[in-house]
Amino acid sequence: MTMTDLPQQVSLREVGPRDGLQSEDPIPTASKVDLLDALSRTGLRRIEAVSFVHPRAIPQMADADDVWRQATPNPDVRYSALVPNLKGAERALAAGFTDLEVVVSASDTHNRANLNRSTEQSLDDLPALADLVHAGGGTLQLIVSTAWGCPYEGDVPVERVVSVVRRGVEAGVDSLAYGDTTGMATPSRVTHLVGATRSAFPQLPLGLHFHNTRGTGLANVYAALQLGVDDFDASVGGLGGCPYAPGASGNIATEEVVHMLEDMGVRTGVDLDALIEVAALAERLVGRQLPSQVLRAGPRTRTTPV
Ligand code: COA
Ligand code: ZN
Repeated sequence: MTMTDLPQQVSLREVGPRDGLQSEDPIPTASKVDLLDALSRTGLRRIEAVSFVHPRAIPQMADADDVWRQATPNPDVRYSALVPNLKGAERALAAGFTDLEVVVSASDTHNRANLNRSTEQSLDDLPALADLVHAGGGTLQLIVSTAWGCPYEGDVPVERVVSVVRRGVEAGVDSLAYGDTTGMATPSRVTHLVGATRSAFPQLPLGLHFHNTRGTGLANVYAALQLGVDDFDASVGGLGGCPYAPGASGNIATEEVVHMLEDMGVRTGVDLDALIEVAALAERLVGRQLPSQVLRAGPRTRTTPV
């Protein structure tokens, strides 16, 4: 069933191997490689593979170099890495990544908990970071987390979020993503922030990263689609959370997004059955039931024999 006025296709970025696994009990390197390689064969075109953060902060990503070295990249997929600072960017470039995401929280308290420095200090780093990435021919995305609220500070004013983005634009970042770190967004808040951002930076490519902490994840995607947003993060099985955000649960599940969009006539390029199999693999690898409901129920086209 096709709906008018929605994008005809969207670009999904799979973040399970990074955002997902960083919040699970550590699993062996070989298991991370298995998950990454399985995702590479589902039709997904963008995968955030690892992050280059301090191993004390996130022990789950301590083997990022090894994971990437042992993976079998699909030439049709763009792989990216998340970094928290200049040192992380140097490590990511040395490992062979060219597409990098740098994360900065809109709320100061969360930035301090996550990155051990103020938002202002992180922003001061951005020009050098962008120069470094661009000198290597790469691209840098600014991910602004806590964009719809902070677990420590509560609501974050839209003006503050936009002012953080402005610093990124001045530094020369190539694109922007908003992170709803602890699932505080609702459709009206999505509409408001996307609108304010588009007014201020009409040319800046924008992606959205929702967590389903409070059950509004897919509704937020739908609200954004109606505004023409065509770039979303999601994690297979709904893996994920944020180790520095109490109560955060996983990202929206990639197979739930694919299932909904494809039925609305919005193409994702992803093979849903293959992706559901990878979600089942992810469950086995982390050893717990994941929140994805499409994984439990199967796609709506799956009928029960009478
Ligand atoms: N990777 C590995 N080591 C790093 C690093 C990185 N990205 N950044 C800094 N370091 C090292 C420094 O080289 C230094 O090492 P030394 O003691 O041997 O000289 C040491 O860490 C301290 O450096 P400093 O800049 O003071 O870092 P910090 O201790 O203040 O930690 C971060 C800051 C950003 C590195 C750390 O808080 C972090 O990795 N946070 C990421 C959290 C995260 O991933 N959250 C989820 C994703 S949103
Ligand atoms: Zn996240």
